[in-house]
Amino acid sequence: MSEYDFNNFDDFDSGLAVADPAEAETEAPTATNEAASTQVLVVDTDSAVRDYLTGLIPQGAETVEYLTDAEIRLASGSYLVLLGPSCSNPESLDRIEAWAQAYPRSQSILVTPELTTQLLHKALRVGVKDVVSAPIDQDQLLETIERIIESIPAETPAFAAGSTGLDDGEPDMMGRVISVFSTKGGSGKSVTATNLAVALAKRSDGPVVLVDGHLQFGDVAVMLKLFADSSVADAISQLDVLDRVMLRDLMTEHADSGLLVLPAPTEPTFADQVSGEQMAQLIDVLRKMSAHVIIDLPAIFNDVVLNTIEASDDIILVAGLDIPNIKNVKIGLSTLALLDVPKERLHLLLNRADSKVKLDVSEVERSLGVDTVAHVPSDVVVPISVNRGSPVVLSAPRSSVARAFEQLAARFVDNKAPGAASQSQGRRKFFG
Ligand SMILES: Nc1ncnc2c1ncn2[C@@H]1O[C@H](COP(=O)(O)OP(=O)(O)OP(=O)(O)O)[C@@H](O)[C@H]1O
Ligand SMILES: [Mg+2]
Repeated sequence: MSEYDFNNFDDFDSGLAVADPAEAETEAPTATNEAASTQVLVVDTDSAVRDYLTGLIPQGAETVEYLTDAEIRLASGSYLVLLGPSCSNPESLDRIEAWAQAYPRSQSILVTPELTTQLLHKALRVGVKDVVSAPIDQDQLLETIERIIESIPAETPAFAAGSTGLDDGEPDMMGRVISVFSTKGGSGKSVTATNLAVALAKRSDGPVVLVDGHLQFGDVAVMLKLFADSSVADAISQLDVLDRVMLRDLMTEHADSGLLVLPAPTEPTFADQVSGEQMAQLIDVLRKMSAHVIIDLPAIFNDVVLNTIEASDDIILVAGLDIPNIKNVKIGLSTLALLDVPKERLHLLLNRADSKVKLDVSEVERSLGVDTVAHVPSDVVVPISVNRGSPVVLSAPRSSVARAFEQLAARFVDNKAPGAASQSQGRRKFFG
C-alpha cells in the first residue's frame, strides 16, 4: 500500500515553481550541453509512486529506492533526478544539497503532494531546480524536465563561492536594489529595466549599474547596443577577489548615459554554474559601490531569481493588460507571498496599459492588491528603440512611454531606500 493516496496522483497539475511555458518555448537546446546523454532517474521508497512517475516519462526512466542508490548512478553519468515525496524530508534535502558540487552533470526536480513555504524554500536552497506539486500536469512536467536537461552544462562548474567584501577603506554607498520581474515571458521586463536604468543613470549623482539576470537568454546588451567583453559570469567567477577597480573593468559603460552594465553570459550553459547565493553576493558587492542596482530577471522562479528578489529593496512586477497576464501576476504574487516577500516591496507596472484589448485598470489594481507605480502605454517607439539598441528615454524622450519611465525613475531617486543613510554621506562617483 502506498504511503500517499496514490489515486490523487492521477489529477496532478503543475506546481508553483514550474517555469513559465512561454519561457520554455524560447529556450532552445545548446550544442554543448549534456542533453543527449542525460537520463531520467526516479527516486522514491514507494514502488507505486516510482511506477506512477516513470509512467509519465514517455522515454522511460531508471528507478531507485534510496538517495544512496541514486548517488551511485550520479557518480558515473548525467541524470535528471525526479525526487518522489519520500525525498522531501529535511535529512534527504540536506543530503541533496551536496549534489551540486559532487554531481554537476545532474539536476533534480522534487515532486510533492503538498507544497508548503518551508518545503519550497528549502528545496530551492539545496539546489533542486523545480518543485512540482499535486495535481501534476504531464505536459508541463515534461517541458520542465526538457528545459532543465537542456541547461545541464558539459563542463564541471569552475566558479568559487568564496566570501566577498570591499575592505578597501572606501565608504559603502548601500545603493537601492531594484529588480524587474514578471511571471510572463515577453511582458516588457527588459524594456522596463533598460529604460529605468538609463533614466536613473541620467538623474543620479552616483554610479548606476544594470545587471542582466536572465543568465541564459538575456538581451540587455542588445537593447543597449553594447559589445561587452565580460559578463555576470566573469564577475561571479572572481567574487572572492573582486575589488572596485576590477569590478569597474568588468562592466561595460553605456556611453550615452554613463550606465554601467553587466550583461548576461554569451554562452547560455554558464547560467547553470551561477548559484542563487553567488548572485546575492554579487548584488551585495554592487550595492556597496552604486547608487542604484537594477536587475532584469527572466520569467521563471529559480534559485537565482529567488535570491535576487530577496536581496532587492523593490521588485517591479511587469504585467500586460490581458487575462493571461493578470492570471500570471496573481500566481506570481501568491508565490512571492509564500516566500515571505514583503508586499510593500512589490510594485506593479502595467505595460501597454492602453492596448485595444481593454481591461479596467483600476479593477485590475484592486483585484491584485498591489500598488501601481507606472502605466506604460503601447507605442511603436518601443519596438523601434529595441531594434535600434537605444532606449526610448534617449531615442524618443518626448513620447509618453519615455515620460512614464522618467516618472518611474524619479520615484526611486526621490524616495530613498531603507538603509540609505550611508548613501547620502558616501554618494560620489567611484567609477572614473
Ligand atoms: N509599451 C510597449 N509598447 C510596444 N511594444 C512593447 C512595449 N513593451 C514591450 N514591447 C515589445 O515587446 C517585446 C518584448 O519586450 P521585452 O523583451 O522587454 O520583454 P521581456 O519581458 O523582457 O521578455 P523575456 O521574458 O523574453 O525576457 C519588445 O521587443 C518590445 O518590442
Ligand atoms: Mg527580457
